[in-house]
Amino acid sequence: MNKFLIAIVVMAALAASAFGDLVSERRNLMPVPKEVSFAEGKLRIDKDFSFAFTGHSDGRLSAYLSRVLKRLEGRTLLEFSRLAEKSKDEATLMIDVDSGGNAIPKLGDDESYELRVESDAVVLNAETSVGAMRGLETLLQLVEADEDGFYFPLVSIKDEPRFAWRGLMIDSARHFQPIEVIKRNLDAMAAVKLNVLHWHLTEDQGFRPESKKFPELHLMGSDGDFYTQEEMKEIVRYAADRGIRVMPEFDMPGHATAWLVSHPEIASGPGPYEIERRPGVFNPTLDPTNPKTYKLLEKFLAEMAKIFPDRYMHIGGDENEGKQWDANQKIQAFMKKNGLKNNHELQTYFNRKILKILTKNGKVMMGWDEIFQPDLPKEIVIHSWRGQKALADAAKQGYTGVLSNGYYIDLMHPASEHYKVDPLPADSPLNDEEKKRVLGGEATMWAEWVTPETIDSRIWPRTAAIAERFWSPQKVNEPDDMYRRLNVISIRLEELGLTHIKNQDQLLRRISNGQDIGPLKKLVGLVAPVRGYRRYQILKQSMLFPLTGLIDASQADPADAMAFDKAVEAFLESEDKSRSAATLLVFFDDWKSTASELRVLKKDAPALQNASVLPDDLEKLSAIGREAVESLRTGKASDDDWRTAKLAEIDEIRKQKAGVEWRVIGSMLRLVRAE
Ligand code: ACM
Repeated sequence: MNKFLIAIVVMAALAASAFGDLVSERRNLMPVPKEVSFAEGKLRIDKDFSFAFTGHSDGRLSAYLSRVLKRLEGRTLLEFSRLAEKSKDEATLMIDVDSGGNAIPKLGDDESYELRVESDAVVLNAETSVGAMRGLETLLQLVEADEDGFYFPLVSIKDEPRFAWRGLMIDSARHFQPIEVIKRNLDAMAAVKLNVLHWHLTEDQGFRPESKKFPELHLMGSDGDFYTQEEMKEIVRYAADRGIRVMPEFDMPGHATAWLVSHPEIASGPGPYEIERRPGVFNPTLDPTNPKTYKLLEKFLAEMAKIFPDRYMHIGGDENEGKQWDANQKIQAFMKKNGLKNNHELQTYFNRKILKILTKNGKVMMGWDEIFQPDLPKEIVIHSWRGQKALADAAKQGYTGVLSNGYYIDLMHPASEHYKVDPLPADSPLNDEEKKRVLGGEATMWAEWVTPETIDSRIWPRTAAIAERFWSPQKVNEPDDMYRRLNVISIRLEELGLTHIKNQDQLLRRISNGQDIGPLKKLVGLVAPVRGYRRYQILKQSMLFPLTGLIDASQADPADAMAFDKAVEAFLESEDKSRSAATLLVFFDDWKSTASELRVLKKDAPALQNASVLPDDLEKLSAIGREAVESLRTGKASDDDWRTAKLAEIDEIRKQKAGVEWRVIGSMLRLVRAE
C-alpha cells in the first residue's frame, strides 16, 4: 500500500478523535516527559548551533554531547563546532549540570532534568551528567522541520522517571550476540531512557562469559562464541557512559546444561552432557548437595563480581522442575537428613548458599519469582515473569521487585499489548509503602528465535513503548498516539545503527532468491509471526536452524495491516459509505495484484515452499472484502448464507502458514459481520 493512502487513513483517524490535541501536546516525544508545555514559536537550527557547559562538565558528558551533535548533523545536513563557547551568552545550548554523579550508574541515581527551548537559546539543567544525557535525548526528539529547515519548538519540560529500574534483558546464550549488537542496543536504550541492561549469559544452550579460573566452562560450553573478560568490561564501560547499569545473570541451578559439559561432576544426574540444541526446559541441574558445586561457584562468581561492578547479580532460579533431584538417591537422602521437605526447600537451601557468596562479594541477589521464600533477607529482588500477583505478594512481604510478565517481547505480541501492562496498575492492591518496593520493569529478549541479523527487529521499536510505560506518568496510555510516536522514534533509532527496519529487506532479498522483493514486502506488511509459544510447536526448529524464513522477516506490528484496521474502522463508522468505500477498495485491488505477483515470485523462491498457499489466501481475502464492502455500500444487506460461507472461508485462511498469520483477520471479520 502506498504512503499516500496511509497518510489519508491516519489523517482521517486524527480528525475523528481528541487525538489531535495529543499531537500538539506530545509531538514526537517518547517517553513523554512528566511535565511538558509547548509555546508558539521556533528556535531555528542552523550551522551556528553552539553549546556551553555552564556548570559541571566531564569527559563522559562531553562525549555524549558529541554523539548527540553527530546525530543532529546527520538529520540536518549541517556541521557544528565541537568547541564549547566560553561565554554562555553566545551558546545556543547551555548545559548546566551540578555534578557528574556516579561514573558507574547505581539504582536510584538522579536522572531528572529541566529543558527550556526559548526563542534564542536552549537551557538544559540537571543534577547529574546522566540527567543531562536524558535531557539531550529529549532535545533530539524535539527536532522538527518545515519548509524553511529544521527547528526546535519552544517548550518547557520538567522530567524525571516514574520507576528507577527500567530494563531490557538480552539473552546472549541461546543465540550468541556479538558485542556490536549489545552496543547498538545500549545506544537505543539510552535514546528511550532505559537504564538497566540485564545480560542473560548462561543457559542450557550456551555458556558465554569467559572464565579465567575455569576456562573449560566457556571453551566447552559455547562453540567458541563467548565474551572475553575485556569485552564484558568494555560493555560495562560503554553502558556506564550512557547512564546504563549492567546486571549479569548466571542462571542456576536449572537451565544449566552448558556448565555441565565441562563439569559433569556437579550435575544432579549422570552425564555426559552436551550443549543443548533444542528450545525448551531441560532437566540438567546443578547438585545443591555437592560441596564441589559451591567450590566452583564461589570462585566463578567472585571472578564475575569483579567484572560487573553493579550491586545486583541475577541468579535466574527459574523453571527448575527438579527431575534430576527426584531421581537421585543421594540427593533424596540429603533432603531427608536436613529436613528439606520438597524441591522448593532444596532450591532455597541452594539459594542461601549462593546468597552468602554474593554477599561476600558485595552483591545483592536477584532472581526470577521461583526464588521467593519469605525468610530470605529483605534486600533480595524478586523478578516476576509469572505474573503481577507474584510481584505484589513479594512487595506485601517487604521485598522489592521488578516486573517482566507482560513484557516478553520474544513472544511477538503487538506493542499495544505490552503498553497496557503497568508495573503498578491502577487497581494495585498495594499501599503506598508497598508500592515503593516495585522498582520497575524489564522487557525480556529471550533468544531462542533471534540471530544478530533479526534481534533488533524483535526488540525495536516495541521496547520504546515499554520504556515509556516505565518512565512516563501512568496517565500516558493512549495506544493510537503511542503508535504515532513509535513510528517516528523507530526511524530515528536507525541513526544509531539499529537494523530493525533495514534487515527486513535483506531477509526478503534472500527469501525471494534475488527477485524483486516488492510483492513479498507487501505480504509481510499484512502478516505477523504466530504469537506466544506457538512457534515452538509449529516449526520444531533447533538453535542451529537458520532464522531466515518468512516468520523471521515478518514483524509484530505490520504497518499495512494496521492501516487497513483504521480504514475499516473509518468505513464502518462513516455515514456516506459510497465515499469511504473507495479507500478500502484500493486495499482489495492491491491484494489481488500482489497475490498474482507472489504466484510468479514463488516459482523461483524455494524458501517460500511452506508458504505457498498465502497468495491464494490473499486473493480470497480480497474477494471477500470486495463483496462485503459492496453490500454495505449499496445498502443491500448480504444474506445469512453468504455470511456463514465467508466466515467459514476466513476460518481456513486464518490458520497459520509457515509460522505467520494474517494480521487483517480481525478487521475482515468486522466487515463480514457488519449489517
Ligand atoms: C523465564 O521466562 N523462565 C524466566
